[in-house]
Amino acid sequence: MRVLGIESSCDETSIAIIEDGKILANTIYSQLEHSQYGGVVPEIASRAHLEKIDRLASTVFQESGLSPQQMDLIAVTDSPGLAGALLVGISFALGLHTRYRIPITGINHLEGHIFSVLLENPGLQFPFLALVVSGGHTAIYRVDEIGVYQCMGQTVDDAAGEAFDKVGKMLGFCYPAGKSIEKEASLYTGTNNSINFPIARIWANPLDFSFSGLKTAVKYFLSSKDSDFIKNNRPAICESFQNTVIQSLRSRLVAASQKSGIRRIALVGGVACNSRLREELKKCFCNEIYFPSTLLCTDNAAMIALAAQKRAEKGITRFPQMNPSASL
Ligand code: KG4
Ligand code: ZN
Repeated sequence: MRVLGIESSCDETSIAIIEDGKILANTIYSQLEHSQYGGVVPEIASRAHLEKIDRLASTVFQESGLSPQQMDLIAVTDSPGLAGALLVGISFALGLHTRYRIPITGINHLEGHIFSVLLENPGLQFPFLALVVSGGHTAIYRVDEIGVYQCMGQTVDDAAGEAFDKVGKMLGFCYPAGKSIEKEASLYTGTNNSINFPIARIWANPLDFSFSGLKTAVKYFLSSKDSDFIKNNRPAICESFQNTVIQSLRSRLVAASQKSGIRRIALVGGVACNSRLREELKKCFCNEIYFPSTLLCTDNAAMIALAAQKRAEKGITRFPQMNPSASL
């Protein structure tokens, strides 16, 4: 089965072709247009998707040596995401669907992230727990099979990636700041967690996360110091912040694993690129933790195509929804 995947939910425009679960082509344009604003500007994102999407499609057809007529299914992200950005991908997908009469399905972006891990680990067995950590989402899902998910815990405010990006902005890094914070933290040579930032606990559901208090704690810490101190201690600040996020993610994941009795873990989403996070979770789950390579952690269309292939195999595809929504 050949699937054309289309992803445009936020600030990555991506088109991919997969054949029986294997990637034939996967092009990604990461919009640098937002770096100076400290976050994604929705209108700029929609325009940038419009400018790039058809060229990316031509590239994947060229790279794979295939034509649109040879596709068995079109898969497009239709929620959640930025409304205008989603509409660009959906309209493009519907254009191909109408012109070439190829079946089409809408895919949930988070379902795409969950299945991104299977692109390189096709043998991963159900059930598993998926820790989805990105710029827009932080949640733990119990995955019993394609289409059967239970959210065990999620952030009640900011996503983990959002916390990285906002703290990065306070420290003068460009958006997205996750990678820069990780790099700066790696320069720290002192004792781990030298600055004690708080880990929030959510009493209503101990598996939920909260990162807005941490972000505020970093803000107050920085405002209590002069610029020379901040300049000389950026690695320590980044290391302590990063470590606090990692401990928060780790403790919930361990608790979710104990509660469900499931030891197989998938770590997915942009923050899963973080090598310290990978190392810490490997210590807890040894060889039962799976993660995609960094290119497939961040937003990409290959993961959307794979989720669609899995749905098609089960006969549970659906027409894309044309009422894009910013929330789940
Ligand atoms: O999955 P993704 O591409 O987009 C969303 O669906 O949100 O994730 C992007 C997020 C950004 O917040 C970015 O700062 C974060 O992933 N990120 C990282 C790292 N690389 C990307 N966070 C921490 N460490 C990294 N190495
Ligand atoms: Zn994403």
